[in-house]
Amino acid sequence: MLANAEIGIDLGTANILIYSKSKGILLNEPSVVAYNTETKSVVAVGKEAKEMVGKTPRNIIPVRPLRDGVIADYDMTAQMLKELLKKVSKKSGISMRKPTVVICTPSGSTSVERRAIHNAVKSYGAKNVHLIEEPIAAAIGADLPVDEPIANVIVDVGGGTSEVAIISFGGVVSCKSIRTGGDVMDEEIIQYVRKAYNVLIGERTAELIKMEIGYALIDHPEVTMEVRGRDMVTGLPKTITLSSTEIQSALKESLEQLLETIRATLEECPPELSGDIVDHGVILTGGGSMLNGMQDWLASEISVPVHMAPSPLESVAIGTGRSLKMIQKLQKASK
Ligand SMILES: Nc1ncnc2c1ncn2[C@@H]1O[C@H](COP(=O)(O)OP(=O)(O)O)[C@@H](O)[C@H]1O
Ligand SMILES: [Mg+2]
Repeated sequence: MLANAEIGIDLGTANILIYSKSKGILLNEPSVVAYNTETKSVVAVGKEAKEMVGKTPRNIIPVRPLRDGVIADYDMTAQMLKELLKKVSKKSGISMRKPTVVICTPSGSTSVERRAIHNAVKSYGAKNVHLIEEPIAAAIGADLPVDEPIANVIVDVGGGTSEVAIISFGGVVSCKSIRTGGDVMDEEIIQYVRKAYNVLIGERTAELIKMEIGYALIDHPEVTMEVRGRDMVTGLPKTITLSSTEIQSALKESLEQLLETIRATLEECPPELSGDIVDHGVILTGGGSMLNGMQDWLASEISVPVHMAPSPLESVAIGTGRSLKMIQKLQKASK
């Protein structure tokens, strides 16, 4: 008999990843749906839909149904998931007949939303569906010994949200989530360029600026980047040169908020576990943690070691896929 596929899904606010233990990452695409408001139908999902952002005719709108870490649009989320599962099964040749699925939901989601996702995956034909908390998946994916009585701190900087969690014995000891992540950083850059230069830039340009010349709040050799946008006075295209120093100042608020959240979570740490944190430090994961200088900046601010997860954009997906055999143990621990 053919074994049913076992897959892990990271339903992130910015990216969805699908992972199988035997084949690794099967799919990694933006959580974007292009929706036609006239025909009320989905035109494209994933990469294809993201490429349309800011470039589509008026009747086609890009939607990020998970944008703020909550499932704003259940139907859209379910359709996106189904399309992506279809794509994976075509591309990888893995039969999606009755797979066992472990899916990681945004930690801000309510029990109703979790149920909804569960049902969406189930209706696609999954045999068993397990939900897992994001910080635990991230920790497993980053090779941390989550089922030991040792405290691990996970800082996951995603697109719509950031989460800081202390994990021990397979359960979350304490966790804080904020709706500040990479998206807010992009927005801060857009606002800055608008105010300082009277130039409008799009979301995708802002994201590129952040990745190229965005820095956490540390000293660094200044770099610059040429950017194109629309002059708000003349209405014409305009090229400007931005420096990393000015972008750094634009990112200050969201970075400080992240730091505050990390501090507040560490303060809540039970004293018996504090020693572990001094020894093992904090693990950074999520795409936002790849901001230039993030690791050094946080290490200098919180005075405990800060490590980068081996593949920050993938740890949650890898963790969900690997967690199957631990699921029962984890479910017990979280009860
Ligand atoms: N090199 C980088 N520097 C800064 N931010 C990055 C980098 N790479 C990706 N990001 C940001 O990471 C975010 C997506 O991270 P991800 O962990 O996939 O989010 P989510 O889990 O919410 O889907 C986006 O805001 C993206 O702009
Ligand atoms: Mg994530």
